[in-house]
Amino acid sequence: MSISETAALTEAELKLLQTLVYQECGMYFDGRRTPFLEDRLQRRLKECRLESFYSYYRLLTSREGKKELSLLVENLTVNETSFFRNKAQLDLFQRDVLDELLRRKQDRHNYSLRIWSAGCSTGQEPYTIAMQVADTLTYHNLRRPAPCESPIPKPLVPAPWRLEILASDINYSVLRAAQEGSYGERQMAAVDYGCRLRYFDKVGERYVVKKNLKELVHFDFHNLKTEYLPRHNDVIFCRNVMMYFDQAEQKRLVEKFYRCLNPHGYVFVGHAESLLGLTEKFHMVHRNSGTAYQRVEESR
Ligand SMILES: C[S@@+](CC[C@H](N)C(=O)[O-])C[C@H]1O[C@@H](n2cnc3c(N)ncnc32)[C@H](O)[C@@H]1O
Repeated sequence: MSISETAALTEAELKLLQTLVYQECGMYFDGRRTPFLEDRLQRRLKECRLESFYSYYRLLTSREGKKELSLLVENLTVNETSFFRNKAQLDLFQRDVLDELLRRKQDRHNYSLRIWSAGCSTGQEPYTIAMQVADTLTYHNLRRPAPCESPIPKPLVPAPWRLEILASDINYSVLRAAQEGSYGERQMAAVDYGCRLRYFDKVGERYVVKKNLKELVHFDFHNLKTEYLPRHNDVIFCRNVMMYFDQAEQKRLVEKFYRCLNPHGYVFVGHAESLLGLTEKFHMVHRNSGTAYQRVEESR
């Protein structure tokens, strides 16, 4: 077979590869999405110069095939994202959830806040969260000053508050782009001029996230299929990720989120996603078209 021809993919080979991808990262390709899977498999097969999908499967399951398996997974992820995506939900986060969290924490003299953006793609989501939290903390500090003076020039996060935003993905190339934090005019469409001025440097035609905002976000590789996920979060954003998993995998993920959250913590999922029917361990908070889910605590 010449490399310009496409190899035939049998039902049995498709099943094997579908199962392998599911076991590796939780992504489930139902009938509607198999043409996409087939297309990506054809591309990888050509790239590896292999003649059959069975030999490709053998490669993926071998010790030498680890790198190819992660490349295949990268090719299968959908990385669409944007700044201030789902504004109604972000308003709920900023106006209600953050406000409640900051008050609750300050009453207990606990000044640390930890937020996880799980499936962060090219970084627009965690940088949006960082802008929102930085703005809110400044405003909160004006109304309820903490017993501590911030140095001059004032940092984005006023003392004694500590903010950690962890942003993770399974795809190394989007993580590299996120870490770079450089965006074109079209990607900046939803970022207003105030935010552009405060949080971005204009470099040629691009907008680059300022160092002090970047420092609030820590990017890392995490596969949501695994058990070892970051714990002690106050809020988890996992938006437009679960929709690629089947229901069994979604249930397992929601259980993990429960364990990864601090008591009374919140989860935000995508507009087309829901925790209803997956768990009894969260209750829904819905305000002005925005939805979040709060961890329910066992009463003693
Ligand atoms: C559609 S993007 C969503 C980006 C952002 N959360 C948003 O809503 O704008 C989905 C992201 O989830 C990531 N993803 C898919 N499966 C994953 C897994 N098993 N573990 C971690 N990230 C995963 C993909 O690589 C992709 O970047």
